[in-house]
Amino acid sequence: MANKNQTLGEFIIENQSAFKYTSGELSRLINSIRLAAKVVNHEVNKAGLVDITGAAGETNIQGEDQQKLDVYANDVFIQTMTKRNIVCGIASEEEDDFIAVNSQDENNQNKYVVLIDPLDGSSNIDVNVSVGTIFSIYRRVTPVGSPVTIEDFLQKGSEQVAAGYVVYGTSTMLVYTTGHGVNGFTLNPALGTFYLSHPNMEFPEDGNIYSVNEGNYTHFPQGVKNYIKYCQAEGEGRPYTSRYIGSLVSDFHRNMIKGGIYFYPKSSKNEAGKLRLLYECNPMAFLAEQANGKASDGHMRIMNIDPKELHQRIPFFAGSTKMVEKAEEFMKE
Ligand code: AHG
Ligand code: MN
Ligand code: MN
Repeated sequence: MANKNQTLGEFIIENQSAFKYTSGELSRLINSIRLAAKVVNHEVNKAGLVDITGAAGETNIQGEDQQKLDVYANDVFIQTMTKRNIVCGIASEEEDDFIAVNSQDENNQNKYVVLIDPLDGSSNIDVNVSVGTIFSIYRRVTPVGSPVTIEDFLQKGSEQVAAGYVVYGTSTMLVYTTGHGVNGFTLNPALGTFYLSHPNMEFPEDGNIYSVNEGNYTHFPQGVKNYIKYCQAEGEGRPYTSRYIGSLVSDFHRNMIKGGIYFYPKSSKNEAGKLRLLYECNPMAFLAEQANGKASDGHMRIMNIDPKELHQRIPFFAGSTKMVEKAEEFMKE
């Protein structure tokens, strides 16, 4: 099945029958994400040459300064998906509330909602370090043809039909799952085409990389402090190596290829951690599980958490199964 010369477009068509519902709607949706990713990639690659770096002068609902590229990427993804009329709703890190797409149009029979982090790792934009985009897709739970409601967005991660990310790195990759494993596609920038470069991606069962912002150490719960000490202590395969980019997408991507754990725990400063459940943790958790890895809040499976609000934050531990299980052991203490 996996053919390295296959383009993403061909792969989507060939695998359409693997989807639970085969109206082609989900394929069109993933196609539009592929298109938006190329547009954002083009702009990210010009950062430094054109006036796209730096702060946009606004803050989002979470009180974070928006960067120009945050705003740009948000607009591109939202416009690409709304103009093509292939979703019924969108939620984004950069929008206070969810967007009901063409809800006045009674012909809008679209079934899917998308949640996105249009630009992940924004603190890295100005310094030429990899950033990403994260997306999560659900079937709506309210009746088709009516305006979407908050219920359509507050679904458990286990209900996701597809999820993925784009990493704008040394090369640009789109990595996604529809619940049948994880596949990675690399953009050939000369042709503007994504090719299947990483079929059936899997986390090694165990690894030796830990990724956490250790600057927050004093504020971490004791279990997290003890786990970090464990990572640094002599032992079988230890001390581990520390790698932290500060872009969840890039840290996760590296750990999936090499074997490792990423964690953003709660702290005495952030009671719920920093990362957002719906458009950061759930999609990454779906990818992790589909790639033989694991994702938890330190105690329970991320995808079993019942979301309460759109921009809800949650502590996050994801990566190689054995490493996540070890971290959970420390959290119990
Ligand atoms: P975003 O740029 O979408 O706000 O996300 C940033 C997230 C995540 O990508 C990263 O791992 C983490 O925040 C970094 O936070 P610290 O700077 O606190 O380490
Ligand atoms: Mn993010
Ligand atoms: Mn973001």
